[in-house]
Amino acid sequence: MKKKIVVVGATGLVGRKTIEMIKEYKLDKNDISLFASKNSVGKVFEINNKNIIVQELNENNLFKEKYDYALFCTPENISKLYIKKLVTLGTVVIDFSSMYRKEYPIIIPEINLDKANESIICNPNCSTSISLMALCNIHKLFGLKSVEYVTYQSLSGAGHKALLDQKEINQKDLRKLDYVIDNNLIPYIGEIDRQGISKEENKMIYETKKILDDVNIKVSATCIRVNVDICHSISINFTTRKNVTLLDIENALKNSLNVKYVGNDFSKLQPRYVKNKKDVYVGRLRKTELAKNSFSIFVVGDNLRKGASQNGVQILDELIKRSK
Ligand SMILES: NC(=O)c1ccc[n+]([C@@H]2O[C@H](COP(=O)([O-])OP(=O)(O)OC[C@H]3O[C@@H](n4cnc5c(N)ncnc54)[C@H](OP(=O)(O)O)[C@@H]3O)[C@@H](O)[C@H]2O)c1
Repeated sequence: MKKKIVVVGATGLVGRKTIEMIKEYKLDKNDISLFASKNSVGKVFEINNKNIIVQELNENNLFKEKYDYALFCTPENISKLYIKKLVTLGTVVIDFSSMYRKEYPIIIPEINLDKANESIICNPNCSTSISLMALCNIHKLFGLKSVEYVTYQSLSGAGHKALLDQKEINQKDLRKLDYVIDNNLIPYIGEIDRQGISKEENKMIYETKKILDDVNIKVSATCIRVNVDICHSISINFTTRKNVTLLDIENALKNSLNVKYVGNDFSKLQPRYVKNKKDVYVGRLRKTELAKNSFSIFVVGDNLRKGASQNGVQILDELIKRSK
């Protein structure tokens, strides 16, 4: 039976990629509706040979129909306004924002799909999602003791306005980033708290423990915005609880689902190569002298695919399969 699916924030970077993923995962035969702000009303997307017109997001329009599933590709404040009410109407919601990540399960299908049993399901932070694809099998086999992230995050991670800013660098009024990114990088992402930790870094710390279901892992993160359109890259140092060799780690990475271990083939560890790839790419594996059982890896993933829309649509696909 056809499901009724609504994509809210359909015109943004995550929304557009979500429509693409709905097609790729062959879910486009369902009954799809699209919403965005009033500025986007009338935009048209072709889905399953039908032209679907974007509607204005407001209570009257959104709540007039009953949806089986909703994908919220919107900022936190919009998620907050609409999601709980939709849930009371019987809709299962997948939210890409960080609004409900403390209260509800955060799901990466390759890791913790068994926890996707609530009416609100959160998609993780993009850098966390990409990093944990590489770390989850290592944690399962050897137990992670500590993880230290340094991220190199693309402009698309900050939404379509940030991408636009780079293309139209002289239009200062359009710039969403706090600083000029041209020939530059920005050494923090999100507000800084009293301890000097940024919002993005706090997300990575909290979500790593929650998704791996282990509060004892010590996590630190430094998140950097770089002048790259798409793909987040993450340098990760980690230590394991069990005694392991470099080969043990290499084998764990080679046996990780939807991860391509590329060793020192540096050409495949670059955003330009990984952009629009389904898998997460991992290499530059080496031991460090910082501690016993301490290793470094470099991870690159498409933030709009595994970092967002692909992960969310994988969840949707599983929920629909379960309901049959
Ligand atoms: N970008 C990433 O890599 C990434 C990864 C993981 C999670 N996320 C999260 O996913 C969400 C969407 O991110 P994005 O990068 O796609 O942002 P974006 O490109 O800025 O798109 C935002 C979407 O929300 C809609 N929207 C904004 N304000 C609205 C309002 N007042 N009423 C109705 N619709 C409104 C926009 O509609 P209009 O086009 O009409 O303005 C647009 O469709 C955010 O919560 C973000 O944190 C993003």
